[in-house]
Amino acid sequence: MKTIIAIDGPAASGKSSVARKLAKTIGFSYVNSGSFYRTATWHMIAKGVDIQNPESVATAAGTADFFSGFENGESFFEVGGQRANITDDAVNRGVSAVARVPEVRAVVNAHLHALASVADCIVEGRDIGSAVFPETPYKFYIDASPEVRQQRRSAQGQADEVAARDRQDSSRATAPLTIPEGSTVIDSTHLSIDQVVDAIVSALESRGLSPTP
Ligand code: DC
Repeated sequence: MKTIIAIDGPAASGKSSVARKLAKTIGFSYVNSGSFYRTATWHMIAKGVDIQNPESVATAAGTADFFSGFENGESFFEVGGQRANITDDAVNRGVSAVARVPEVRAVVNAHLHALASVADCIVEGRDIGSAVFPETPYKFYIDASPEVRQQRRSAQGQADEVAARDRQDSSRATAPLTIPEGSTVIDSTHLSIDQVVDAIVSALESRGLSPTP
């Protein structure tokens, strides 16, 4: 049985940087589930799928040739043997529409479960502690003020409006963004990445998990 650490939170809350650093610190593999939804979105846009139509999206998800694995301690997700341009503006704008479709979520979740069956993982996303791995005792929810999150996104050279995406991700019917029951909530508004990582390592140690790389 592998150990799963779930890290959820809204867009640009710092969870990717934290999850990647934490994975290196404790010797776990890093899985960025958002990149899976982004890859699916990129693929559907490239294929001309009407991503606002859930039926078209579901059909495309069922026929796409997705493949996942690990490489240098991180997950990758491919479609038709290709890696997506996941930070494309059209992907930023379209990903929430694709991610709300249950058939897409089922495909992504099957890959997440397969990855987590072969390695101890830190999995970050929106529904990891609430829906994908609800049985894990190690759940964290990283938040930050909307202003700081928008600043962080802009500093990455990205122009997407994080508040709009959060609204869509929080209000969808299937596995919406939520604070998972039993999770430790960390407000990273005034914290550095290292401070958040330290807080998580302390919380893990206090729960008896002291992994060493
Ligand atoms: O973490 P991110 O910003 O790269 O995620 C992109 C989108 O993917 C996010 O707006 C909603 C969706 N997503 C999701 O629905 N469930 C997850 N576990 C991870 C991401």
